[in-house]
Amino acid sequence: MKITLVRPAPEHQAAATAFRQAFFDAGETVINGSELLDQTESYDDWLKAVTDNTNTETVNPEWVVTDTFFAFDAEEKLIGIIDFRHELKGFLVDFGHCGYSVRPDERCKGYATEMLRLLLEYAKKCGFESLQLSVERKNAPSVRTIVKNGGTYERSFAFEGETADVYRIIL
Ligand SMILES: CC(C)(COP(=O)(O)OP(=O)(O)OC[C@H]1O[C@@H](n2cnc3c(N)ncnc32)[C@H](O)[C@@H]1OP(=O)(O)O)[C@@H](O)C(=O)NCCC(=O)NCCS
Repeated sequence: MKITLVRPAPEHQAAATAFRQAFFDAGETVINGSELLDQTESYDDWLKAVTDNTNTETVNPEWVVTDTFFAFDAEEKLIGIIDFRHELKGFLVDFGHCGYSVRPDERCKGYATEMLRLLLEYAKKCGFESLQLSVERKNAPSVRTIVKNGGTYERSFAFEGETADVYRIIL
């Protein structure tokens, strides 16, 4: 399977807008791992924020250095998004290093598994030895995505009345 992780750029505006709309059309208002693409009307504003957040000098002081990647398939269709938060502080101590989503009409094709695999390769190149990922226990596809990438259960916490589990992936 050919999936490519690409940093968001100005030329992705139309694809990103269609990607975002695909979630809303499917009745999903939250796009996990999208660094608030779901809540930001202006692509330019979102692009500036995610670009600023890649750098220690320009990161939002209320956030942590974060890499955000679009995932493109072999036909160069934008099928997913994944982020990598370099530091765990505040609520991220529970939420972990990484969130991701696959376009609703492109699920169950192995894309999330491959996106996370590529992200782990990148994190290793950045010098990380392990990543922590959290998932609501009832989110079976995401649990499988993490376990298939080597995640082992560490602990649980309560989130919005549900049980969420923290996994660790050794790189
Ligand atoms: C979680 C999510 C990213 C998975 O994406 P995906 O591309 O469909 O995942 P994959 O195709 O790589 O499948 C991963 C595993 O989950 C399984 N799976 C997929 N959909 C499933 C479902 N509805 N129920 C049970 N298992 C499912 C797959 O079969 C696969 O396991 P297997 O290889 O053992 O068969 C996607 O469902 C999504 O975007 N959900 C909304 C956002 C979210 O929950 N993100 C994660 C929290 S940060």
